This record gives sequence, structure tokens and C-alpha cells, in this order.
Amino acid sequence: RAPEPTTLVIFGVTGDLAKRKLLPAVFGLWQDGLLGSAFNIVGVGRQEMTDEAFKDLAIKALEESKETDAIQPGSLEKFRELLYYEFGEFAQDDVYDRVRLELDRAQEAHGGRKNALFYLSTPPSLFEPISNGLGRLGLSEESEGWRRLVIEKPFGHDLDSARELNDTIHQVWDESQVYRIDHYLGKETVQNLMAIRFGNAIFEPLWNRGYVDHVQITASEDLGLEGRAGYYEEAGVVRDMLQNHLMQLFALTAMEAPAAFDADAIRDEKVKVLRAVKPIPRDRVDSVAVRGQYGPGTMYGEKVPGYRQEPNVKQGSRTPTYVAVKLEVDNWRWQGVPFFLRTGKRLPKKVTEIAVVFKRPPLGIFPGGLERNVLAFRIQPDEGVSLKFSSKTPGQEMVLREVVMDFRYDAFGAQLESPYSRLLLDAMVGDATLFPREDEVDHAWQIVSGLLESWDTPAGQKGAGGKDSAPDFPNYTAGSWGPDEADELIGTDRRWRRL
Ligand code: BG6
Repeated sequence: RAPEPTTLVIFGVTGDLAKRKLLPAVFGLWQDGLLGSAFNIVGVGRQEMTDEAFKDLAIKALEESKETDAIQPGSLEKFRELLYYEFGEFAQDDVYDRVRLELDRAQEAHGGRKNALFYLSTPPSLFEPISNGLGRLGLSEESEGWRRLVIEKPFGHDLDSARELNDTIHQVWDESQVYRIDHYLGKETVQNLMAIRFGNAIFEPLWNRGYVDHVQITASEDLGLEGRAGYYEEAGVVRDMLQNHLMQLFALTAMEAPAAFDADAIRDEKVKVLRAVKPIPRDRVDSVAVRGQYGPGTMYGEKVPGYRQEPNVKQGSRTPTYVAVKLEVDNWRWQGVPFFLRTGKRLPKKVTEIAVVFKRPPLGIFPGGLERNVLAFRIQPDEGVSLKFSSKTPGQEMVLREVVMDFRYDAFGAQLESPYSRLLLDAMVGDATLFPREDEVDHAWQIVSGLLESWDTPAGQKGAGGKDSAPDFPNYTAGSWGPDEADELIGTDRRWRRL
């Protein structure tokens, strides 16, 4: 999977994401010899800086990031030679002109075609000017080499703005050139979900309303705001996690088997199942969703502030940091099987999991209650898959107990790749399988639109559904599993997994 000669152009290269994730991911790929010999990076920013200063900054970032692979002797010095920097205002043409010269220079040095991957690691307000700027200078045209655009989330702020953004981008780029990043799709164990579903014969026959009682998808985070109030106050948990990462996990869990493992076959199936989800009704949001915001509490024995006490959060902020939602899928496979999705910040621990909970056996012939079998995909940490079932305990009596059969991903003995390195390499070789397509993003927005419209209504005003049922925030303590109402949402005969 070696890419052709490539110049990676990172806009917003002095930002946090580039320093913490992108540069370490690219460095790892390069150090492992996966980028070929004809590769270089052009960092672009608004900050005035020489090439040398940028090289220093990048090397320091690599030395400091926890994501950087073990550095081999001499590696950093060689990697340094691949780095260049251009600065300027993104609304003006000269910066793109200089980027074009960088592509000429790379071609002179490496030969081959002038392939370029443009990575927008900037605030979303800059997506449009950069896309247009590249377009004006003809940098999206593929006559001299392939040209691709990678866009970070958030992809729009709501359905309307996401559609506008798509329109703007398509004025310059064909959809086949656009790679929208959702880093959850780059996680090994998310890909393994497809491998296990469609690489085995024993799971699919059970994967439907005949056998499955419900599905739980959890992405719990122990971290709080991490100094990101500027972004998070605007986004909140629905835009930050539910609309993208959790919807992707949902789509991969619920979709039909694709006819082939290729970008369009997989994305077609994801879109089909997203389309089948009943939109969250704006006037009955409370019956299918719960929101929360954390107050002060204790995590791992240390006191932590509440959301409203985090630096730069508005006094009395109504931004939700927790959401639980019940999705229903109107298709033959899943009719009547609820999917419960939950995610939140400052929950007791970091864990992402997809649990398929099966129906109880139809008849109890042994003493004691009947338990439900659970097939759980642990996305992170302790990556793996487990199956919970009932077994006889040793002894004269027929006493059953739940036991777990466990596959741990570390049995492979290999270190898991970072999602960014996987996705960057995919984009460089032109494989869009793990990148959400325009219509997927659109449908994911459609599903959460009712939630957003209802919850974005300022406190004290009637919600869109004519009733104001906004909970008092904060309504969960940092270090707890979220608001009590989430237990009511899942119902009396079911309970959230204790993770
Ligand atoms: C990001 C969100 O997309 O995903 C963050 O913006 C969140 O708020 C992060 O913390 C979680 O990613 P991961 O890979 O740590 O589970």
C-alpha cells in the first residue's frame, strides 16, 4: 500500500491537533517506511515563521507527544529535512501561490507526478476560504497529479450548515476527492467489528430482531473539558460525539452486509441504515433522549470542578456534556429492537463499547432467573470481544452462573496503530472506505436535528415541542454514570452495562 510521491499540505499546522496527533502519525508512517522515499510535508499557518523555526516546532512536538512511536536514532534529523513552511492569510491568493511553488519544488526533487493531500486542520470557519483559495489557484485540478482534501470535524454545525459546507466544497472538489475524517473509523477495533460480522458465519444469522433484544453503544470519557471551552460551548456533546463517532459505530453495527469490502459498497449500506432510523421527534425528545451536564465531583480520588467552573465556560451554561438516546430502526432486520447510545464527559472511566444484548431463552428449566447473552465489542481500552453466557457451576446442584469468553486484541502481540496514521495512509493511497461520504453525514445530521432544535432552545422559553422540560444543570456529578433519567430511558427490564 505504498503511496505514489506525495506532498502533504497541512493547514493549521501550528494547532493542537496537528502537533498532538497528525505529525506523530505521519512520522510513524514515515519511520516505518510506509510513505516511500518521495514524500514531504508543507505546513501552512497564519503565523509568520521560517522553515527552520517550523522544523524546530515540529520536532519538539514529536518529542513531546505521547502519540509518537519510539524514535529510532537519527530519524528525527532525517524527518526534519522533509518539512517546509508557508504562511499567509487564508483569504488571499499569495499563500496558495507559494503552496503551488512548493509542489513544483517537490516534483523537481522527487520526480513523479505532483500529488497533493491538503489537510484542513483548522477551525471550521476556515474550511470555506481555504477550499476556495485552493480552487482559485487551480490546485484542486488533477491534470498534474491527484489532489485530495481531508476535512476535520465538525462538519457543519447543524443540517443546514453541513449542507452549505458540502455545496461550498463541491464548487471546487468532486466528492471523490473529499475525505471527511472521523477518527473512530480508524480505530482497529472498529474495523474489527466489520471483520467479525462479515468474516464469520456464526454471528450474522443471530444479528436481527429474531434474536437481539437491544443494542447498547457507549463512549464514556473520564476527561473533562481539557481547556476546549471555545469549541465545546458551541458544540456540546451531540455535535462533538453523537452526530459523528456514535452514529458511525451505530451504522457499522446495524448495516446490512455489503457486497464487497470497498468504499462505495460499505458506504451505501451505512447510508441505507441511517436512512431507516426514525428521526428523533422534536416534540417528544424527552421520551427518547436524556441530556446532562456534570457538576463538581471526585475522579480517581481527586476533586474536579464542574463544567460551569471550567475555564472560559459561560456562567449558567446550558451546554450538555452527556447524552443518552434511544434509536429505532424502521427496517425488517431491526423492527422493534432499540439501540441505546450514550456518551458523556467526566464519567467514571474511559471506555467505548458496543454490546449486542440477546433475548432471554424462551423457557427456564433451571432454577434461578434467565439471563441475556451479551456479545460485547470493546473498542477501547483493553480492546477485544467477549461473549457472556450462562454455565453450570461445579457441584451437585444445577446452579447456573454467567461466565465470559474473552478474546483480547493484545493476543496478536502487536501494538495498535493510531487511527490517524491509518486514515492518513488510506487518504494517500486513495482508499475512502473509512471516510464518511456526504450523504452519510447528511443523514446523521437529520437523525439528531430534532434533538438539537429542541435542546438549543434557550432555557425558560418553550421548547419546540411546546413544553419546557429543560433539566436543571448540573444534573450529574463528575465521576458518576450520568443523570438518573438515563436509567429510566433504558427501561425497567433492561439496564445499562456496568463497564
Ligand atoms: C473527539 C472529541 O472527536 O473525540 C473529543 O472532539 C473526544 O471531545 C474525543 O474527547 C474522543 O476520542 P477518543 O479517541 O479519545 O475516544
